[in-house]
Amino acid sequence: MKQTARQLVTSLSFLMAATGAAAAPDIPKIVEKDGRFALMVDGAPFVILGGQAQNSSNYPLALNKVFAAIKDMNANTLEIPVAWEQIEQVEGKFDFSYVDTLVAEARKNKVKLVLLWFGTWKNTGANYAPEWVKFNNARFPRMLDKEGKSIYCLSPQGEETLKADKKAFVALMGHIKKIDEAQRTVIMVQVENEVGTYGFARDYAPKAEALFNQPVPAAVLARKKSPVALAASGTWKQVYGDYADEYFHAYSIASYIEEIAKAGRAVYNLPMYVNNSQRDSLENPIKPWKGNFASGGPTYDVIDIYRAAAPHIDFAGPDIYGPDSKKFTASLNHFQRKDNPLMVPEMSNAPEYVRYTYQVLGRGAIGFAPFGIDYADYSNFPLGHKAIDKTMVEPFGKIYAAFRPMERQWAKWAFEGRTYGIAEGDDRQPQTVDMKGWKATISFREWQFGEREYFKNVKDLPAGTESPNGGVSIAQIGDNEFIIIGQRARVKIDHAEGKPSMWARVEEGRYDPAGKWIMERNWNGDQTDYGLNLTGNPVVLKVKLGTY
Ligand code: DGJ
Repeated sequence: MKQTARQLVTSLSFLMAATGAAAAPDIPKIVEKDGRFALMVDGAPFVILGGQAQNSSNYPLALNKVFAAIKDMNANTLEIPVAWEQIEQVEGKFDFSYVDTLVAEARKNKVKLVLLWFGTWKNTGANYAPEWVKFNNARFPRMLDKEGKSIYCLSPQGEETLKADKKAFVALMGHIKKIDEAQRTVIMVQVENEVGTYGFARDYAPKAEALFNQPVPAAVLARKKSPVALAASGTWKQVYGDYADEYFHAYSIASYIEEIAKAGRAVYNLPMYVNNSQRDSLENPIKPWKGNFASGGPTYDVIDIYRAAAPHIDFAGPDIYGPDSKKFTASLNHFQRKDNPLMVPEMSNAPEYVRYTYQVLGRGAIGFAPFGIDYADYSNFPLGHKAIDKTMVEPFGKIYAAFRPMERQWAKWAFEGRTYGIAEGDDRQPQTVDMKGWKATISFREWQFGEREYFKNVKDLPAGTESPNGGVSIAQIGDNEFIIIGQRARVKIDHAEGKPSMWARVEEGRYDPAGKWIMERNWNGDQTDYGLNLTGNPVVLKVKLGTY
């Protein structure tokens, strides 16, 4: 008997209702509206309050130390590697036992997973490729320098390398689909890790040379303008001059990644992204590559090339390992674009970075994950925190604890463009945030009581503010209503056009899991006379203002 599509859906739902089987949740995806983005998980906007495990914790027996830290951090998502060397130690024989344990443990711990595919490139190198790849230069060629000598980096022109990486990745995606389609524990996949090449602008092997002398593809020309006015079309050198080597390498790597992502998504269509080791975010004007960053990686100057070459990659994200506040903000500005959702897939876990949690989440990022969140016996100090115990995760844990109960609302507000975020600058100066009809002024190193000028003779400053660690996220949930989360900051809100105004309500509380606001107390008197003074313990405030 022939059935219409509608009849089929109806009879399927009937069958599921009758057997008690739940429909699989919607597959995660990234959606865009008015230049803003939401990561849809189980059918609704979700924000990754994440942590990334260390590089060698991707083994079943190592996971306890990872999940313990993720739990202390109150994270909702774990980012963790799946290495090519571990799933295909012997060519063609796949072993997904680690992935099975990982997914089971994640479910037990009630966290989602972002898998990091450490394949052809991990921090540009071949370390995570299986031995049968690493040591077979004839089949899996490395890049050549100008003198024709092999360098450390696998070539993006290696056809066999691409074929083999793609095959393993497709097998991985097929396996995830098989074990996770009904539950969607895995929500996103990073394809390769911090790609590019250190010390060399590109591959100089004959095959790469020939391609370099071909015309720049139209898709690249359409998106990527040359920083200097040169030929409108022609070879890479003719169009991009001194920038050509880096751009060509970016195109080569992006095209390679595209093949892998496209094949993987054809099997199981999860969102996919690339991360990058950054170039100086304040360099202006941007100069041609001169050994100062990994050439060919998805640095901000070549996002357009990645967008052109890799449409199956949803976005490029910055890994941020510099505490300078101006540079941090510049990085976010570079990567938050109408065609590139903001996610910070990695950030140092050192104390001076904690404040940025508020900035990134307030800016409406779809995800955020400090790196090194596990209790394995390793610290990446001086890049990250010295400690490898609870003291390392706790500062983030307190902030996540405030966000977690309202993570879904927050993601929705962010998608609607209602959220703002700032972090205390290295200059410790007040900052303003322009919102609809209102303007917030956020200052730092204030006592909770009084204005500075009342106590000119008081020289001491609040303990815990020795280095910048204030931050505030605000969601404007109504014309005159705000949700404020923050720490070590004073928040004042004034009417944008200067009308006299005052606090109507400043409720401290939290959202329950059903999204209902539960008030603990209403701040008034001393607690509001000098702005809203947030200490080192993040609180959630539901604030209403009025004019008179
Ligand atoms: C960035 C990389 O992506 C991480 O895997 C790790 O190597 C850190 N750098 C340094 O700890």
